[in-house]
Amino acid sequence: MAEAALSILPAEKAARYAALRSEIAAVIAGETNVIARYASAASLLAQAFADRFIWTGFYLVDPLKADELVVGPYQGSLGCLRIPFGKGVCGAAAARRETIMVADVHAYPGHIACDSRSNSELVTPVFDRSGNLAAVLDVDSAEYAAFDATDRQGLEAICADLLANP
Ligand code: SME
Repeated sequence: MAEAALSILPAEKAARYAALRSEIAAVIAGETNVIARYASAASLLAQAFADRFIWTGFYLVDPLKADELVVGPYQGSLGCLRIPFGKGVCGAAAARRETIMVADVHAYPGHIACDSRSNSELVTPVFDRSGNLAAVLDVDSAEYAAFDATDRQGLEAICADLLANP
């Protein structure tokens, strides 16, 4: 079912994000396990933007360690397991609880290079229904400046849905 739906995603980027948002919402509807939700979103996003995303996944706030992220479901090469809040792009987005887009990761102080092919990235927070930070979505590209406002809006909207319903 998911494969058939992906094949008809619109080519235009904003429309593609809107269709993907509906697709992800439909797939995770009624699923109470958050890992299943993150894994489904990572898979669908990575497939939908396979031409641009080389790493697509989630770093989760570790409930056992204050201010530390631990790797969650992802698509791509081996990611580092843990990122303290404030470190790298993911840690900065977690600490600031806001989206960060980096056009050139090599110029970003403290960038954590998990995949040497990565040249730009976007990291956006995921909040739970109480408004607490639950995770960040990290999307990396081999292109420089691969992400724009349309990516930001599309990915923020998808992340806003992820934990919205039980
Ligand atoms: N790019 C991240 C590290 C995680 S990997 O790229 C998967 C960062 O600097 O936050």
